[in-house]
Amino acid sequence: MVRRRLIAGNWKMNGTAAALGEVTSIALAAAQHDEVDVALCLPATLIGRAGDAARGFAIGGQDVHYADKGAHTGCISALMLVNAGASLTIVGHSERRQDQQESDEDVRAKAETALAAGLGVILCVGESDAVRERGEAVAHVSAQLDASLPKAPSDASRLSIAYEPIWAIGTGKVAGVIEIGEMHAALRGRLIAAYGEAGQAMRILYGGSVKASNATEIFAVPDVDGALVGGASLTAADFVPIIAAAGDRTPR
Ligand code: PGA
Repeated sequence: MVRRRLIAGNWKMNGTAAALGEVTSIALAAAQHDEVDVALCLPATLIGRAGDAARGFAIGGQDVHYADKGAHTGCISALMLVNAGASLTIVGHSERRQDQQESDEDVRAKAETALAAGLGVILCVGESDAVRERGEAVAHVSAQLDASLPKAPSDASRLSIAYEPIWAIGTGKVAGVIEIGEMHAALRGRLIAAYGEAGQAMRILYGGSVKASNATEIFAVPDVDGALVGGASLTAADFVPIIAAAGDRTPR
């Protein structure tokens, strides 16, 4: 099955108004690649202005609260994201699972709240190096996915999974194509077990030190349907070549 690729940037805690020019440049380049879905998940403070700087371009949040509203100081609701102009959000990034002690149950609740609000969701899973060294990566990440998956979304294309080995995030280390292929095949199996045929339509992104120099090789792996990109999404110069690589469907 051919799935449209999704290339999502994750700016993490980077970017002020001075970076809006990069958003505009990335959006203009993305418009030249309408065979690929492109999005930038920005700090919440930039979402509204980025929407003004790049009309029609997909802007996302990096997290969302599972409650609709209420006494949760510092948190952002799905309605607030939609209202600011976001069309998607990341949930369950390993930095939040670690820094904010988010559990699989939290991630599942966040995904359900975001989907119910009409947002697309990129749900992240991934193993530590210790887990991989013990030879338990596939079992660990499969169990993490099973416990984090929301109840069946009405529109399968709105839920994407990002496999991000923690040891590959921001380190310059990339999982090998064999490891990526093995993990993505296992995750595809879990999605089909959870959602039946709809699980075939969901995109599974790879994340962890994706750059222009390794993107083509990673996108050639079966069941890799795009990328979640951190550091290399901060500038158009680094990000646009990754979008271009995703648009190239020449069989390899
Ligand atoms: P990286 O981050 O591309 O900088 O490794 C990826 C991510 O954490 O989403």
